[in-house]
Amino acid sequence: MRIKNKIAVITGAGSGQGRAAAVLFAKEGASIVACDWKPEAGDETVQQVISDGGKAIFVRADVSNSRDVQNLINTAISTFGRIDILYNNAGVGFSSPLSMSDVLNTPEEDWDRVIAINLKSMYLTAKFAIPEMIKSGGGSIVNTASIAAMIGSEAAHAYTAAKGGMVALSRALAVEFGPKNIRSNCICPGAIDTPMIAPVVDPMKGSGQLLLNSPIRRLGTPDDIAYCALYLASDESSFVTGATFVVDGGYTAQ
Ligand SMILES: NC(=O)c1ccc[n+]([C@@H]2O[C@H](COP(=O)([O-])OP(=O)(O)OC[C@H]3O[C@@H](n4cnc5c(N)ncnc54)[C@H](O)[C@@H]3O)[C@@H](O)[C@H]2O)c1
Repeated sequence: MRIKNKIAVITGAGSGQGRAAAVLFAKEGASIVACDWKPEAGDETVQQVISDGGKAIFVRADVSNSRDVQNLINTAISTFGRIDILYNNAGVGFSSPLSMSDVLNTPEEDWDRVIAINLKSMYLTAKFAIPEMIKSGGGSIVNTASIAAMIGSEAAHAYTAAKGGMVALSRALAVEFGPKNIRSNCICPGAIDTPMIAPVVDPMKGSGQLLLNSPIRRLGTPDDIAYCALYLASDESSFVTGATFVVDGGYTAQ
């Protein structure tokens, strides 16, 4: 087992990549604190982990809300005693009612909300989890940004700015807290087949166009990302920090 007896807090664990990571991390020996703002979705993930023989609890939290995040971290500590892995995975994108438009067409409230959910959340989880990690001798923070942080596009400007901020903050955390044995790395997924991108990808699946058009001629799966996160969460990556892992089937290499 690759992360035996570790305690992992995973945000956005009710769907897609977060659920895949919860299931995989538990199979590899971790106890899971599954966070989502949708209780039914989070409970379903927990049930899946438990029926596979793993250990998990669900904590409802809106990751953009300071009190919710504090409660998430407190519950992880009161239940399991420490946090070894913090996986900042929750985010909103194309399936959200919030604007995924360019700056000219993004309402200010939507800009603020997208930045709060995708980027401020990382500040909040770090703020409350890092002191606990320091107390217990260190930990690994895994952050999910996007290839939107690496290349420009005509749409989703608030999302792009938030994900770029995540890459930068991930590096800053690595520098500041490396001496305390806390690592921080970022994953930049390409198009991954989850509910988040269904509204833009489903109409294209038939034609195999655009986002599907990476050198590896398919969409990524949630497991493609979960295995990268597992490596970064585990001690196998103990000399890796401040790094950005692009997992996009070669899309940005073209
Ligand atoms: N799917 C892709 O193509 C793709 C590409 C690049 C990056 N990403 C990023 O990957 C991460 C995971 O997305 P996914 O593809 O699994 O999408 P998803 O929509 O399947 O899952 C996202 C989960 O986050 C939860 N969530 C959203 N806002 C929340 C909040 N405020 N508080 C708590 N939970 C919240 C949702 O309820 C959902 O369970 C996101 O950060 C996303 O931006 C996705």
